[in-house]
Amino acid sequence: MTSTIVCTCPKFISPILKREMESLGYTVQAAYQTGVEIEGTFEDVLRLNLLLRTAHRVLWLVQRFKAQTPDDLFYNARSIEWEQFIDENGYVCIVSSVDTPSITNTQFANQKLKDAIVDRLRSVTGKRPNSGPGTDKTVVFLYWKGSECVVYLDTSGTPISKRGYRQQPHKAPLNELLAAAIVLSTKWDKDTAFVNPMCGSGTLAIEAAMIARNIPSQYRRTNFGFMHIKLFDAAVWEELRRKEKRNEKQELSFPIIASDRDSQAVAATRTNARSAGVLHDLDVRICDFAKTPIPEGEGVVVLNPEYGKRLGVDSELEMTYSRMGDWFKQQCTGKKGYIFTGNIELAKKIGLKPSRKTEFFNGDIECRLFEYELYSGSKRTPEQEQSPIAKKVAHAYKIHKLKE
Ligand SMILES: C[S@@+](CC[C@H](N)C(=O)[O-])C[C@H]1O[C@@H](n2cnc3c(N)ncnc32)[C@H](O)[C@@H]1O
Repeated sequence: MTSTIVCTCPKFISPILKREMESLGYTVQAAYQTGVEIEGTFEDVLRLNLLLRTAHRVLWLVQRFKAQTPDDLFYNARSIEWEQFIDENGYVCIVSSVDTPSITNTQFANQKLKDAIVDRLRSVTGKRPNSGPGTDKTVVFLYWKGSECVVYLDTSGTPISKRGYRQQPHKAPLNELLAAAIVLSTKWDKDTAFVNPMCGSGTLAIEAAMIARNIPSQYRRTNFGFMHIKLFDAAVWEELRRKEKRNEKQELSFPIIASDRDSQAVAATRTNARSAGVLHDLDVRICDFAKTPIPEGEGVVVLNPEYGKRLGVDSELEMTYSRMGDWFKQQCTGKKGYIFTGNIELAKKIGLKPSRKTEFFNGDIECRLFEYELYSGSKRTPEQEQSPIAKKVAHAYKIHKLKE
């Protein structure tokens, strides 16, 4: 059995999610602002839930139909063969996104869909499942916009954006999905140094270690929505987990360095990394960002400084941003530098020209990931290599050409 599978994500993340899904071997059918669609089997649903780092939920399409009124919803939904998917002795929760003129209260749409499912199962099996708000068993998701209704099984149940390793959050931690999206949108090759000064509770460094070691994002989780759907086969799931376990690297041949000036942040990083099973991959230090050791060779340096909207005072931060630019220029040559911030004005104080800017949202704050190519002496641009006299001659030649 195959169906459309929709993996949902926050705004601006779908190009990264699309690449992630393609790198797992899937052919993407459609990508939109908050989701990526493929055609696949229920086994693919299990694999995507286990592995995806930048998705919120994995949805299995049950049926699309037209509906103008709550009664249209009821009769269309009642004709779906729910007995294929939902155990009459089980428990079902309905969640929805509804934007249609005949519904002013979303709860009413949820109620109608629940009634249709219960009615169908009672008439076919003589029994009815329980229902309620808990998302830890079977979850049905209704998308209803205008007259377009789409009913899905939410195979994640509770979102897969949380990994469950964060025991100790520090100030303004990034959520795990966003941290993974930042790591995956850098040019890091997963084979050279990853340096993360200002690490806070360590989310970027931990996600980097999990990515480099091929540790599935959800390897700790024991309950998913799909386990409460009749298509689930526990033996297939166990085999999938075993296969992914065999793919894991035990050791990394390059350093992942995480540092922060705050001892509580460093303690939080250690606790979280231990809980994620990657503490031995991290070199964790207490120091000012500018004292973080930079290994020889290639690699990336990724900073997520405070940006004054949730933490810190702007006048102090101006100085910090300017110091970050100087440090990149003087100490990080040969690396690719990245700064993730929600304050575009402060970013100007870095004083370097970014080679790329990637947009993100952190909650409701619009953020950017700035990329800097930090050339070492041998990698200077041809223009920088020119002597002052050669530069003057080239300039005069350009003006001459323009006048021609
Ligand atoms: C926005 S938080 C980082 C959050 C982190 N990405 C996470 O997911 O938990 C910024 C961190 O920078 C640290 N910090 C601020 N100024 C610093 C400096 N000059 N040197 C080192 N760390 C600094 C703070 O202690 C704080 O933990």
